[in-house]
Amino acid sequence: MDNEFVSYSFILLLLATLAPGNVALAASHMEDATGVTSTTDFDGKHSSSHMGMGMDDLVNPAAKVFAFIKDIQVGKTMPIYFPYVSDPASFEFLPEEKIHGIPLSSEQLPELLRFFSFSLDSPQALAMKQTLHMCEAKPLEREVVGCVTSFESLADFAQRFFEPDSRPRLGVLRSSPISDTTPLLQNYTVLEYEEISTGKIIPCHNEPYPYAVYFCHFQPDTVNKVFMVSLGGENGDRVDAVFLCHMDTSAWDAGHISFRLLGVKPGESEICHFFPAYDLVVVPLPW
Ligand SMILES: *[C@@H]1O[C@H](CO)[C@@H](O)[C@H](O)[C@H]1NC(C)=O
Repeated sequence: MDNEFVSYSFILLLLATLAPGNVALAASHMEDATGVTSTTDFDGKHSSSHMGMGMDDLVNPAAKVFAFIKDIQVGKTMPIYFPYVSDPASFEFLPEEKIHGIPLSSEQLPELLRFFSFSLDSPQALAMKQTLHMCEAKPLEREVVGCVTSFESLADFAQRFFEPDSRPRLGVLRSSPISDTTPLLQNYTVLEYEEISTGKIIPCHNEPYPYAVYFCHFQPDTVNKVFMVSLGGENGDRVDAVFLCHMDTSAWDAGHISFRLLGVKPGESEICHFFPAYDLVVVPLPW
């Protein structure tokens, strides 16, 4: 495996060449956060969150992640919620050889629990069960989903959607983690921003599990845009955040919390959201 570190503007991207077994890595600093619903936390790491799955409480500070493209202007200030990640290393993929041969399958749950030494009724067992079910769930219409556990499996998943012949390099975007003294919800001012990609964008969400498991989903027919936004916090902290925009919301559930928070109806406007530091977005790199 080649390690190739590339710095792109104010972003450090993780790169992967789209060839099975030939993944070139660069640095990753940025992550993602789509949507909103709490599932079981693994070791108190975080609550997994997904667009369209709940969080009905309009005053819940964790819902302060939605915005429009027009909100991203240098000098503009807005309140944004970023969860604190106490153990960023637990969100990094393990080397393929470390997890090789460990099945990711509900059928094998009893063996997996023995392997990781968790009792059947432990919170960890419940979290693993839920993650495995999520990984095995049927995708929505016109959506492709899958769980990945390494850069190799991430590249294999993405390769199915990005021009197979051109073998573009992959960029993996993550938001930078906030420090332990940063308020989870505070005002941030946009310092600079950059549009990274339009079109084929694969969001992946970290799921509670004993090692890094990401649930990736791709909707071939929808247009998304992804930006990196540098934000200056009121407390002086700086966050380089992934900002993903869903350009067509006409098919979304009208009850989705983002519509109520932003005061728009399905299809009226794009809906964008900032990502937490434990999720990621895969894009083909333009060079
Ligand atoms: C953000 O700033 C506005 C205007 O100064 C203020 O009313 C609001 O309480 C602040 N929000 C947070 C979360 O600090």
